[in-house]
Amino acid sequence: MPYSYQVRSSEQYQEAYKKSVVDPEGFWAAVAENFYWHKKWDKVLDWNFTEPKIEWFSGARLNITENCIDRHLATMADQPAIIWEPNNPDERTRTVTYASLHKRVCQFAQVLKNNGVKKGDRVCIYMGMVPELAYAILGCARIGAVHSVIFGGFSAQSIADRLEDAKAEFIVTCDGAYRGGKDIPLKSVIDDALIGNKTVKRVIVYTRTRTPVSMIKGRDVWWEDEMEFAETQIEKDGVVSFPAEEMDAEDPLFILYTSGSTGKPKGVVHSVAGYMVWANYTFVNVFQYRQGQIHFCTADIGWITGHSYIVYGPLSAGATSLMFEGVPTYPDAGRFWDIVDKHKVNILYTAPTAIRSLMGFGTAPLAGKDLSSLQILGTVGEPINEEAWHWYDENVGKKKCPVVDTWWQTETGGILISNLAGVTPSKPTYATLPLPGVQPVLVDENGAIIEGNNVSGNLCIKFPWPGILRTTYGDHERCRLNYFSTYKNLYFTGDGCLRDEAGNYRITGRVDDVLNVSGHRIGTAEVENAINMHTGVVESAVVGYPHDIKGQGIYAYVIYNGHHEDESLRRADIAQTVARVIGAIAKPDKIQFVTGLPKTRSGKIMRRILRKIAEGETANLGDTTTLLDPGVVEEIKNGKL
Ligand code: WT7
Repeated sequence: MPYSYQVRSSEQYQEAYKKSVVDPEGFWAAVAENFYWHKKWDKVLDWNFTEPKIEWFSGARLNITENCIDRHLATMADQPAIIWEPNNPDERTRTVTYASLHKRVCQFAQVLKNNGVKKGDRVCIYMGMVPELAYAILGCARIGAVHSVIFGGFSAQSIADRLEDAKAEFIVTCDGAYRGGKDIPLKSVIDDALIGNKTVKRVIVYTRTRTPVSMIKGRDVWWEDEMEFAETQIEKDGVVSFPAEEMDAEDPLFILYTSGSTGKPKGVVHSVAGYMVWANYTFVNVFQYRQGQIHFCTADIGWITGHSYIVYGPLSAGATSLMFEGVPTYPDAGRFWDIVDKHKVNILYTAPTAIRSLMGFGTAPLAGKDLSSLQILGTVGEPINEEAWHWYDENVGKKKCPVVDTWWQTETGGILISNLAGVTPSKPTYATLPLPGVQPVLVDENGAIIEGNNVSGNLCIKFPWPGILRTTYGDHERCRLNYFSTYKNLYFTGDGCLRDEAGNYRITGRVDDVLNVSGHRIGTAEVENAINMHTGVVESAVVGYPHDIKGQGIYAYVIYNGHHEDESLRRADIAQTVARVIGAIAKPDKIQFVTGLPKTRSGKIMRRILRKIAEGETANLGDTTTLLDPGVVEEIKNGKL
């Protein structure tokens, strides 16, 4: 099945792009014709960025799981939908065909129904990377429940905050998860998150590690028991069915929490139809997917990349998606290459941080691995440095595979700026050109649009694309303030960007107080709040600094007034506090104890100075005369770690 909307040449890209700008409604209506609708839309697009109000395909009725599964059954029932590679290479691989995916998803939808889950209810999913995670997600979508997946690295406190914000009544989890050499006790983290929680009625527990778990009567049930019973309900005379809930185009599909520059993470909400069209369109075009290819996205489904390019994008396109439970360095640094070789992977989509970490092991782990199946390489999550780009291109792609550098965000639902593999040219460190439907603009501090090429500014988007977020859960005003109020009538990305002489975009990193650590977004305010919870901490300031592998590391300046003279013990305690409050992913890499922080007379911390010191750039700190106590800067400089 070729995709009629797959652009196959540079000319076709230009043509599609032009049409998407001149006649966006006509353009997206034509793309949307390729999906399965119960009822088609009354209006393709209705929008304003002031409220904001964004509606795509309004009036249309559909279910995304029929588009991801049922409609492929007639021709591709036996084709693998998901190939699962376990953490331990000695364990058996699992292949889930479209027919078996259909059965499992129907079965799990029935389980949800049996447990009282209804359309619109929020279901929190906290699982490792097992196929059952995909069944859980799609099962929710099938009955119209709103899933909110939480990455396995977040702490009980983080889960508790998200459960409360989402007013979730249901949880799907695992006893534990295998990740490299570690077993992570997921259910026990959930138990901690549920201490004092009054809203969660049911916890469904899938057995993966068979670690001891406490199962509370009346609240906790085993996945296996529930699935077994549901099987008798969904299967009659060998025919499997569970009716897909007919959803409105603008009904919410999922919530995914992400960090911003202030306070607690916000629940980004994506709606059914627009997200589906966007995840599919970008998957088919950026990776130039062809039927039968094996697509391996190495992300965790706890992040948006996994939602869009392991689950919804590939499955809606009838693709084969490889899902990997483990980590790139287990049992050794050749694991990715073993997987590519074993499963004859055609498309590999990973993060710069993974590439840099593997680069550190040299080319020995690649030796003897047959990578000839690879046709396309992709990166996502952070700016890729030139060295990593070339290493990937030369050693993994053998200079024969186009490399796509895909820029996007949790809020954008799918890729916005990227070259299209083999169709539009790549340029190392550049995401290059916007996808059809995406209208980027650069603005200066005052919000004036910067025209022309060879310029830089803050990256905004001036027109909605189908995958744009619709709101932040439970707080629409927060959505407006965060994304639509900095610059009038523009969606503000939070990224700095430059545009070269040919109009290619290069994303240079966040311009707000958000860090990107190993491709994970972490707000400095969030880390500061966590550090400040530790007894003895008076005040703290957190900034990012360049880190060889992680991209950015977390540097914390801490004023401490407690006992324990041993600084390394204090540091370990503070790190432990952050791990408890947020999760291990937010632990500071460096903690410098200081007696004061550089503040203006009005009490504002001068982060610019702290950032420069953390970056090692102490010579040129800029104007420090407006500081309340300029002396403190000397002390901080001298104590730099
Ligand atoms: C932020 C979004 C998109 C899925 C993974 C991260 C940075 C993302 C690139 C890229 C340079 C990138 C941006 C963006 N980013 N991709 N190809 N080049 N920067 O999703 O957690 O929502 O983070 O990641 O700073 O704003 P996220």
